[in-house]
Amino acid sequence: MNKVAVIGSGNVGATTVQRLAELNIADIVMVDIVEGLPQGKALDILQAAPLMGYDVDVKGTNDYADIAGSDVVVITAGIARKPGMSRDDLLATNIKITQQICASIEQYAPDAIIMTVTNPLDIITYAALRCTQFDRNKVFGMSGLLDSSRFASFIAKELNCSVKDVCAMVLGGHGDSMVPLPEYSTVSGVPLSKLMDEATIERIVNRTINAGAEIVAYMKSGSAFYAPSAAIATMVESILNDTKRIVPASAFLNGEYGQHDICLGVPVKLGKNGVEEIIELELTKQEMEALQRSADAVREGISKIRS
Ligand code: APR
Repeated sequence: MNKVAVIGSGNVGATTVQRLAELNIADIVMVDIVEGLPQGKALDILQAAPLMGYDVDVKGTNDYADIAGSDVVVITAGIARKPGMSRDDLLATNIKITQQICASIEQYAPDAIIMTVTNPLDIITYAALRCTQFDRNKVFGMSGLLDSSRFASFIAKELNCSVKDVCAMVLGGHGDSMVPLPEYSTVSGVPLSKLMDEATIERIVNRTINAGAEIVAYMKSGSAFYAPSAAIATMVESILNDTKRIVPASAFLNGEYGQHDICLGVPVKLGKNGVEEIIELELTKQEMEALQRSADAVREGISKIRS
């Protein structure tokens, strides 16, 4: 049986565990710093197994030794964004938490693939890669698939069509500088520009960029977790089943898209080795410029963790 460790048993972590259990693809261990929280939530998820028909082990723990043997470790631990708080405000605390967790992963699950989720995502991913010294294919962040799913859901709503036929693509950093790509977004193969006018596309693009903040503003405390956990589960499944899905993710770039020494959202092929390929799309001058602005914003954050 495959094994997945989810670090953090808050909203994103616990919902991810639930989704993974329902996919029936791996035994799962959920780790949190708060005593009793992961144990209680894991037991609750386990007790749903007879009803939902999954047959995997789900364990909650405060002991990192329990992640031993994990194929994938998903890091959701950290503090979540509060209203009015930018993702960058979270930086210092979440970097420290990530470094502690990465040290435990190196100690107990040195062969694992690490998927970061904690915000600010691209910077946290870079920090995880740097502090573990794992190969770059084994450390990446979940971001673009969530942003693309949000974009796709808005497109389907606008066109009153099935989300199943929408294929949307968002590149760049997971933040205000993300780069939704209408040119690479289609409905049953038909480009978006043939289905809606420019003003409508722009409105949907802007809503996508602000989608996380829109939810935070509604909820007042806490941030999104249903769609994030769905994106995480989709990516974990592609790794464990070696499906080789092509999804946007925050990957370390070594010259791709003209970028070096940075983690940024780009389309990747996800299989049993993690990021097996980075796909380079042909971008227009404007899209390249937007991606560069996004890279600049992420680099500014990275420079803060270096200093
Ligand atoms: N080790 C393990 N767990 C930790 C640690 C640590 N060092 N520090 C904090 N945690 C746990 C908290 O105890 C809490 O249960 O991380 C969990 C975070 O849960 P929530 O506050 O509910 O946050 P959540 O909504 O799940 O978001 C987690 O994902 O999408 C991002 O921006 C979001 O960075 C945030 C992360």
